[in-house]
Amino acid sequence: MAYAKEIYSLRQLPFLICADMFSSLHFKQKKRFDGSPRSSKITSFYGLKTPPYELEIYSLRQLPFLICADMFSSLHFKQKKRFDGSPRSSKITSFYGLKTPPYELDALEPHMSKKTIDKHWGEYHRSLIEGLNKQLEKDDILYGYTMDELVKVTYNSGNPFPEFNNAAEVWNHDFFWESMQPGGGDMPKLGLLQQIEKDFGSFTNFREKFVEAALTLFGSGWVWLVLKREEKRLEIVKTSNAICPIVWNDIPLINLDLWEHAYYLDYRNDRAKYVDVFLNHLVSWEAAAARLTFAEAFVNLGEPKIPIA
Ligand SMILES: [Fe+2]
Repeated sequence: MAYAKEIYSLRQLPFLICADMFSSLHFKQKKRFDGSPRSSKITSFYGLKTPPYELEIYSLRQLPFLICADMFSSLHFKQKKRFDGSPRSSKITSFYGLKTPPYELDALEPHMSKKTIDKHWGEYHRSLIEGLNKQLEKDDILYGYTMDELVKVTYNSGNPFPEFNNAAEVWNHDFFWESMQPGGGDMPKLGLLQQIEKDFGSFTNFREKFVEAALTLFGSGWVWLVLKREEKRLEIVKTSNAICPIVWNDIPLINLDLWEHAYYLDYRNDRAKYVDVFLNHLVSWEAAAARLTFAEAFVNLGEPKIPIA
């Protein structure tokens, strides 16, 4: 994959913006309202900000690569000074690590067996990380993103890069392990329960819709409880294969892996049983509530509360 590299570095952007603001100021000063001649003294400091895509250089879509390119050069600079004195290497060999589930691998038994998690996390999830890291060795321009950023960038507005499937599946699985807990299931509490009741009518309705979504998903994929930022409401979303709803700017609260590898060892092809067990014994409403609380820093789910002085 080839990306343009002969470009302005990020460090130059502030100067481009400054230059633009300065010319706007001079233009305004020629037309002062009292008719006085233009002064070389600058008395006002606001300029018209120019969208970055009018600079005749790069579109917004390319900004991530500008950032990457800049980070990449820093990286090379750092590699000149490796602590062990070895010569600089142009090969980047380590990117992302395999996150461990937040419980022992047998902690979800008997509802999800250690054998399943050994295979699913220890082998499959690990192979996704390794596959991703291999891809990034070749396309090192994508180095330096958080996993969230990497998923969004490689989704590329619906024209995914080859790295997207591995990146998104890593994200989905990291999120999935943390969407379960030993002794999970039952019902959510307090604010999350109220929000579910507000948006679905009742917890029973939510549950029915979640199960229906899981059972009607064709092929492999995921079912999610997400917070829609714009609509400011919870919704159930189905995604095929690796797609992750953060690419649409949704905020996920819970996900359920509906690839057959997630349940075949424990439930064969009985997806309905697996979904039922997930909701009754595995889903972590505590994790979902914490995620909702975090989301509320960005999405106001109630009436704005304006402090009174
Ligand atoms: Fe999976």
